[in-house]
Amino acid sequence: MAAARDLRAIETAGPSDAVELAKRHLVQPWPFAGSVGAEARALIGEGDGIYITDGTGKKLIDGPAGMWCVNIGHRREELARVMYDQAMALSYNTPWYTMNAPSAELAMRIAGYAPGDLSHVFFTTGGSSAVETALRFMQFYNNVRGRPEKKLILSRGGAYHGSTYLSASLNGRPRDRDWMDGADDLVVKLSSPDPFRRPRGLSISAFTDVLVDEFRDTVGRVGADRIGAFVGEPVQASGGVIVPPDGYLKRIRQICRDNDILYVSDEVVTAFGRLGHVFASGDMFGIDPDMITFAKGVTSGYFPLGGVIISERLLEQLRRSNHPDAMFGHGLTYTSHPVGCAVALKNLDILEESVLAHTREVAPYFQAQLKTLEELPLVGEVRGLGLMACVECVADRESNDPLQLDKDVGKRIDAHCHELGLLVRPLINMCVMSPPLIITREQIDDMVSILREGISRTMDDLRKEGVWQG
Ligand SMILES: Cc1ncc(COP(=O)(O)O)c(C=O)c1O
Repeated sequence: MAAARDLRAIETAGPSDAVELAKRHLVQPWPFAGSVGAEARALIGEGDGIYITDGTGKKLIDGPAGMWCVNIGHRREELARVMYDQAMALSYNTPWYTMNAPSAELAMRIAGYAPGDLSHVFFTTGGSSAVETALRFMQFYNNVRGRPEKKLILSRGGAYHGSTYLSASLNGRPRDRDWMDGADDLVVKLSSPDPFRRPRGLSISAFTDVLVDEFRDTVGRVGADRIGAFVGEPVQASGGVIVPPDGYLKRIRQICRDNDILYVSDEVVTAFGRLGHVFASGDMFGIDPDMITFAKGVTSGYFPLGGVIISERLLEQLRRSNHPDAMFGHGLTYTSHPVGCAVALKNLDILEESVLAHTREVAPYFQAQLKTLEELPLVGEVRGLGLMACVECVADRESNDPLQLDKDVGKRIDAHCHELGLLVRPLINMCVMSPPLIITREQIDDMVSILREGISRTMDDLRKEGVWQG
C-alpha cells in the first residue's frame, strides 16, 4: 500500500522525489545500521565524457569514474549501439548447454593480452563473483588432484576483493569486517605492502625483505600442503592505492611457484586501461599469475561483467586427472552474457584505438599535478600509478597519524569538492582519484585545483573547530 502511494506521488511530482523514495524503499550498499534504508545519497542524473550531473543540475568531474569503472567515459554512443544491436540479435542464451559468439571472441581477445599461459576465460557478473569463481576453482582443482587439504587462502591487510561471503573473507581494510562474519578458518592474513606505513627507520628495500620473509615464514609455519592460493591486487585499490615496492610481487610470485600455491592476481581495478595496459600483472609488474580476475573496466561499467582468466596448465591437469567425471559445480545464470560480451568487445576496440596510449601519455602529468598537493599541511602523502591516485591526510607529518575517524576528513573534502564541481571518493582519511581515462591535461588541472581548494577549506573547518592546528 505504502509503495503504491509512493508510486502515484512520483508520477505526479517527477523524478526529483527519487531521493525521498530511496529513503523509504531502497537499501543502499555499505549502509550504517543507524540510517539503513533511510539514506539520502546524492542523486546522479546524467553523464557525459568525464562529467556527471547531480540531481540539482550541477555538473561534476567524475573523480572516481563511477567506482573505478567508467574507463572510456560516459555517454559513448558506440557502446549504447552495440548494446541495442546485440539485444535485438540475441538478448540472452542459457550458458548451461548452449553458447554465443561474442563470449568466445571476447575470451580469445582477452587471452591474447594475458601474460604467461593464461588461455581461457570464465565470465561472471562482476568482481566479487570473479574472485569467488577463482577460489572455488582452486578448491575444485585441489580436490580433483587428490589434495583436499590444500585449501587455505593467503590475503593481505588493505585488500578488497568483494562482497560475496568467501571473497569478502579476504578483505583487510579497516572497518570492512568489524560487524561482518567471514570464512576465517579458510583465510590467513599477511601485512599490507604499504611503504608509507612501513616501520620507522626501515628503508624500502628492507621493508620489502620483511614482507617477503613474512610470506615465506607463513608458508613454512602453516604448511605449503595446506595453502591453495594467494590472492592479491597488483596495486591495492580501495585500501588507498597502495603501490607495492619494486620487485615485491615478483618475489611473492616465485614463492608461490616453489610451493605449488596458485597466484591469483585480482585486476578488477587495474585491468582494462587504468594503468595504461589491458593487464598490469605482466606488462607492469613482470608476473605471470595462475589466474587473473577482472571486471569493471572490461565494459567501462556499461554492463555488469567480470571474469577469471585461467592458466592452460591448470586446465590440462584437470583434463588428464583420474577423475574426468568430476564436475566443477559452479556457474551463474549470466555467465557469458551475450550483451555484456558484445559491449566488452567494443570497449576493447576503443581502448586499443586510442585510450590505452592516451592513458600512458597523461598519467605522469596526472601524478605530478596531484603530487603538488603535498604542499598542504593536512596532506601526508599523494601516491599512485597510472590514472589512480590517493591523497592521504594525516594529523601531522611527524607521526603520520591518520586523522581520527570521527573527523571524517575524506567526507569533508568530498563535500567541499562537490560544491566546487568534483566528485571525490572519500575513504576515511583519504581521497581516491581515478577519473575516466579520456581525461585531458586541462581537465586534470581543473580537478587538481578543485581538490586543492576543497582540502584548504577542510583545513579551515578543522582549525575553526579546534580539532587540528596544522
Ligand atoms: C580489487 C577488487 N576486487 C573485487 C572487487 C569486487 O567487485 P564487484 O564490486 O564488481 O563485485 C572490487 C570492487 O571494488 C575490487 O576493487
